[in-house]
Amino acid sequence: RGKRAFIAGVADDNGYGWAIAKALAAAGAEILVGTWVPALNIFETSLKRGKFDQSRLLPDGSLMEITKIYPLDAVYDSPEDVPEDVKSNKRYAGASNWTVKEVVDSVKNDYGSIDILVHSLANGPEVAKPLLETSRNGYLAAISASSYSYVSLLRHFLPIMNPGGASISLTYIASERTIPGYGGGMSSAKAALESDTRVLAFEAGRKGKIRVNTISAGPLGSRAAKAIGFIEKMIEYSYANAPLQKELRADEVGNAAAFLVSPLASAVTGTVVYVDNGLNTMGLAT
Ligand code: NAI
Repeated sequence: RGKRAFIAGVADDNGYGWAIAKALAAAGAEILVGTWVPALNIFETSLKRGKFDQSRLLPDGSLMEITKIYPLDAVYDSPEDVPEDVKSNKRYAGASNWTVKEVVDSVKNDYGSIDILVHSLANGPEVAKPLLETSRNGYLAAISASSYSYVSLLRHFLPIMNPGGASISLTYIASERTIPGYGGGMSSAKAALESDTRVLAFEAGRKGKIRVNTISAGPLGSRAAKAIGFIEKMIEYSYANAPLQKELRADEVGNAAAFLVSPLASAVTGTVVYVDNGLNTMGLAT
């Protein structure tokens, strides 16, 4: 049978999550998606109205099918963790079962198991502030949404992941080299995510024969990236300075992700793979 993938962090057709979903669908996987609760309505409506039909097109001429969309807020592990103001918020009140544990229970009830887990989400409320001006709450929120969310998803999904399966996340080079503008503790969150990739590769490898890798992606003008504010500058910088002087397309990251979660990468785990036109290798701006 084909593989089943759960992709957390898809809410439009611009980001890396969508591109990864497409690459996996093109390779024959069944696609389940986890969409941030506040973005759920507009995503489902746009999908239904055909707004994404053009970008659903797969190489064989068919359209990507998303088998099911699960509302998800990866900042909360179970209902006890959800504060009153969020519960009663009207953007959340319309949806149910969107904490990590509940989503995994739903997937288990619906399909029994998955083979592939993709984490393509991040959030840092103070991303526009330098680290020196970041509050404790802002820093912890960045880590919670962007790093622990992955630990939690893998922890909860692992028992229903088929042995031989794989997981992947998205990181950014700001974890290891200073990128002024990527603030609010987001650089710290990505450093944690990369370190956790190694530790989780060991633990999930031993426990469930699951591989864990992360892709350090180059700049893409996604919705999340535009919110940070300097993405156009980063894209230009990359174009000017990377070994490969070309635009970085989301589907290039999608294809690399499809490789990493496939049997072609059966001995690759615990690694950070750069999909950035080679920019990370440069020591001097040119
Ligand atoms: P995106 O906007 O397509 O994806 C981010 C998603 O996270 C959105 O769908 C948003 O709704 C979701 N999200 C935010 N908080 C959430 C929560 N608490 N629970 C569930 N979902 C939540 O943007 P993009 O850029 O494709 O981001 C995907 C991943 O790629 C992120 O980890 C990002 O840091 C990473 N990345 C992006 C780069 C870029 O230049 N765009 C470069 C390197 C890495």
